[in-house]
Amino acid sequence: MRANTGEQWLEGRIRKYGPISKLSLFGTPTIFLTGPAANKFVFMNEALVPQQPSSITRILGKRTIIELAGEDHKRVRAAIMQFLKPDVLKNYVGKIDWEVRHHLKMNWIDRQTVTVMPLMKGLTFDIICSLIFGLERGPQREGLGKDFADMLAGMWAVPLNLPFTHFNGTNGLTDEEIVDNAMLVMVAGHDTSSILMTFMIRHLANDQVTCAAVVHEQEEIAKSKAPGESLTWDDLYKMKHTWQVALEMLRMIPPLFGNFRKALKDVEFDGYHIPKGWRVFWASSMTHMDANIFQEPYKFDPTRFEKSIPPYCFVAFGSGPRICPGNDTFVRDPMPSPSQGLPIELEPKPKNDL
Ligand code: HEM
Repeated sequence: MRANTGEQWLEGRIRKYGPISKLSLFGTPTIFLTGPAANKFVFMNEALVPQQPSSITRILGKRTIIELAGEDHKRVRAAIMQFLKPDVLKNYVGKIDWEVRHHLKMNWIDRQTVTVMPLMKGLTFDIICSLIFGLERGPQREGLGKDFADMLAGMWAVPLNLPFTHFNGTNGLTDEEIVDNAMLVMVAGHDTSSILMTFMIRHLANDQVTCAAVVHEQEEIAKSKAPGESLTWDDLYKMKHTWQVALEMLRMIPPLFGNFRKALKDVEFDGYHIPKGWRVFWASSMTHMDANIFQEPYKFDPTRFEKSIPPYCFVAFGSGPRICPGNDTFVRDPMPSPSQGLPIELEPKPKNDL
């Protein structure tokens, strides 16, 4: 994975053994499955529960949504969805817009070069701090940001008037569940979104046609606003092409390469018996790069998303009852990331073109 050859390795396996094969990973028997039917099986089977490395559990806690199954999973998911649902997010669009403007002013305007990846991480961190922790810019947010790895200690230092805590009581979340899941959502949303934005910027810098179409769409929205007026929820709906570019980027470089499930009981797929305790591994890029599903899969073509995509073929956000709750708006291990952080040169747009 570190050599970024994970996909080639999986492709090699598929060529050799077909879409279902058995391997031993970290000493545990694991079934690797690929294809839309396999995706449906993995995402919809309640006997298959996510299996995280113990290091993740140690850092994020035992009561995160990804550790839970059955009724507990439903309860915690309902609480998370409460603050990611459109009615709630609508109120945050102006805040996010403010964060982005501030970020551009501080880090991009009048610069000749910037390194994109750390900037996108910083921006995503700021937005999530504001949304999940209700933490405005200032020493507390900086304190939390300085050491992301020390997040747990940082969180306890933050006064718990977090938007997320409002769900205590109403949804019956314990304090442990609130803290574990606030951190989980922060980690889940942070790396994935910042990686997507970094790769979008890299792509747009090299693809003039797509870049011009995105800029045109954004400028049309900008023209309809009074100076300084914030973006609204309706404006986001106008960003259709920009969103298709994001989806195409996620198809080609899904931040979450794949993930593990553990069989809670014996299950069967396509005539193959998977015993209780075995792991199942799904990989999104295998269906994303299947020429029978996405013609010319190596061509960047956002217009593919103008039509609806057949079920279980585009799984950058997973699917089924555990589909990413952030999908309208974890982790390639290691996540794809430009080795130098993507340093780029900026070319100012002529003033009369703004
Ligand atoms: C480009 C951005 C993102 C990508 C590609 C992404 C991808 C995914 C994927 C593939 C899963 C399913 C994992 C599995 O089934 O094994 C997932 C789950 C999850 N994601 Fe995201 N995610 C993104 C952004 C976000 C954001 C912004 C948030 C929150 C603000 C978030 C919160 C979560 C949570 C809480 C889960 C667990 C859901 C459950 O188990 O029911 N994600 N994400």
